[in-house]
Amino acid sequence: MFAGHRVRGVGRAASEGERAGPVGRAKGWEAMTSPLPPGETLPQPVLNPPASVAVFLVATIDTGGEAAVREVLGALAGLVRSVGFPSPDGGLGCVAGIGSRAWGRLFGGPRPAELHPFRELAGPRHHAPSTPGDLFFHIKAARTDLCFALAAELMRRLRGTVTVRDETQAFSYFDSRNVLGFVDGTENPVGPAAADAALVGEEDPAFRGGSYAVVQKYLHDVDAWEALAVEAQEKVIGRTKLTNLELDAPGSHKDVNTVLGPDGSEQRILRAAMPFGRPGHGEFGTYFVAYARTPGIPETMLRKMFLGGPGSGPDPLLDYSRAVTGSLFFVPSAGFLEALPEG
Ligand code: HEM
Repeated sequence: MFAGHRVRGVGRAASEGERAGPVGRAKGWEAMTSPLPPGETLPQPVLNPPASVAVFLVATIDTGGEAAVREVLGALAGLVRSVGFPSPDGGLGCVAGIGSRAWGRLFGGPRPAELHPFRELAGPRHHAPSTPGDLFFHIKAARTDLCFALAAELMRRLRGTVTVRDETQAFSYFDSRNVLGFVDGTENPVGPAAADAALVGEEDPAFRGGSYAVVQKYLHDVDAWEALAVEAQEKVIGRTKLTNLELDAPGSHKDVNTVLGPDGSEQRILRAAMPFGRPGHGEFGTYFVAYARTPGIPETMLRKMFLGGPGSGPDPLLDYSRAVTGSLFFVPSAGFLEALPEG
């Protein structure tokens, strides 16, 4: 066996197939794939595999803009159908999230149990800022034009009622690599395990099928990164660069982000990170999105990364990566958007 290669899954409480899904165990998974799912638990396209192109929009809602935003959220599924239907191979999808400060402005009734503003982390060396964000759109497709067309239509309807805080056009890069040259997303859960990691279940019945999205935009110091030997880069990430094999690398990014729950099982999130950049401006980045059933898991990872924890961290990847935004959103189920509660 490859020296230093660790066999994954050892010590996990249950295999992916054995794990129970949050939307009603096996029944819930069927519900998501069945042609007639119970509307309130059908998720937005959070679980879809990574797309080739994405546009990420983060906006705040201007005073008095609530009605227009509600209208767009309620119309979103139809808009995606209209723009995407003529190009069935384009795989157009859009996930919409709502920030903590906006929730009560938009909807009456209960709030998602764990929705709160993104918590800034300020350590001696690293800083994760908390930046404004009431609305999040994660538009994805196989084609740039489809993402562009949907973003344009959303903004046409929202113009004058929201202030866009960030707009990032992201792309898939070589073999699912980030701009640091490493394959990104390998250990993402798939199938029922992805639903288990990303979707709210019976613990918050009014919001079953929803998800929490932690969103951060990172800029990389690629000159400093490229000055490292490949072996040194591999120790930072915890995987080999060319072959993507896992290394036994204590203190690496992979190691810092291996978080165990009280029963010893690995706590998992569904990452949807994508590269972006403007070489002409010296900008090389990773747009990081983590979809999670509870924000507590990515928050634990972030604390370990930025502040360090007993025996590990801070994350060496942060010596080459700087977070410039940070927001937390709740992504309600598709059924919630189709039948929005009264404002
Ligand atoms: C600078 C931005 C980031 C970059 C470039 C990056 C890159 C990577 C890469 C290359 C891997 C190894 C392959 C894989 O399994 O995907 C990885 C793993 C992982 N990352 Fe990140 N990451 C970033 C930020 C984050 C953040 C902010 C979190 C958590 C909030 C995170 C959580 C994880 C987790 C959970 C794993 C899998 C660990 C395992 O089980 O092996 N990453 N990341």
